[in-house]
Amino acid sequence: MQRWKGRVALVTGASVGIGNATARALVQHGMKVVGCARDVDKIRETAAELQQTGAAGQLYPVQCDLTVEAEIRAMFDDIQSQHGGVDVCINNAGLAIKAPLLSGSFEDFRTMTDVNILAPTLCTQLAVQQMRKRGVDDGHIITLNSMSGHRLVGSNAFYSMTKFAITAMTEGLRRELREMKSHIRATCISPGLVETEFAIRLHKDDVQKAHAAYASIECLQAKDLADMILYVLGAPPHVEFNDIWVRPTEQVF
Ligand SMILES: NC(=O)c1ccc[n+]([C@@H]2O[C@H](COP(=O)([O-])OP(=O)(O)OC[C@H]3O[C@@H](n4cnc5c(N)ncnc54)[C@H](OP(=O)(O)O)[C@@H]3O)[C@@H](O)[C@H]2O)c1
Repeated sequence: MQRWKGRVALVTGASVGIGNATARALVQHGMKVVGCARDVDKIRETAAELQQTGAAGQLYPVQCDLTVEAEIRAMFDDIQSQHGGVDVCINNAGLAIKAPLLSGSFEDFRTMTDVNILAPTLCTQLAVQQMRKRGVDDGHIITLNSMSGHRLVGSNAFYSMTKFAITAMTEGLRRELREMKSHIRATCISPGLVETEFAIRLHKDDVQKAHAAYASIECLQAKDLADMILYVLGAPPHVEFNDIWVRPTEQVF
């Protein structure tokens, strides 16, 4: 991780869960991390905590609703003027809403599309533009996919559809970068069950269901994913992890 010290990472969805753990890990390794989410107060708390513990880097909290294109563009403009530009983009923010194909609301389909597909696509485009403008050829785009981006489990087909899109996005991005002779790397990480707010938000009408799911096996923790992201970033520049499937050992499907 030595070569990333002092360089700039954007982590979307940094308020809680995998994004929060990742922002912490990158700051502890000396990176300047722009962490965004709607609940910016939680990121401010994390930033203060990191500062108090003498972390090597710094966390810069930004409020951004990733369903709003103008807010994403404004965030990238601010990153450029304040920090020069993004070197590493972690497209982490994502959500699942209960919305069966035959009865789900169009609004819920749209929210999942906006946050899980369009936001990472736009963040990727703007991040790569900032890298290329500054001649950064070792940048990295890492996107949180899911095992649901490879196979359908349960009945949440629309969420799965958005994650299948991330599988296609990562490979498509890789090909476009290779066509440009760029060495910027593209990775997606496809976890199974991770104990975060994810299932609690999904089952907000029946939170016990979420707790039962997390209690049913020994789940992955957000820190496990942050450690994986450090591993992916720390690989030598000629090594590109493209997709990492990672499930709790006890998870069956
Ligand atoms: N947990 C799992 O079992 C699991 C499994 C496979 C894949 N994943 C993927 O891993 C990623 C992280 O999930 P997690 O488990 O850490 O979930 P989480 O604990 O629910 O956190 C989700 C994050 O996304 C942010 N977010 C949601 N909507 C947003 C919006 N409109 N604008 C900005 N930020 C938004 C949230 O911030 P605010 O609410 O503050 O805006 C929050 O920081 C997601 O892409 C998810 O699909 C999770």
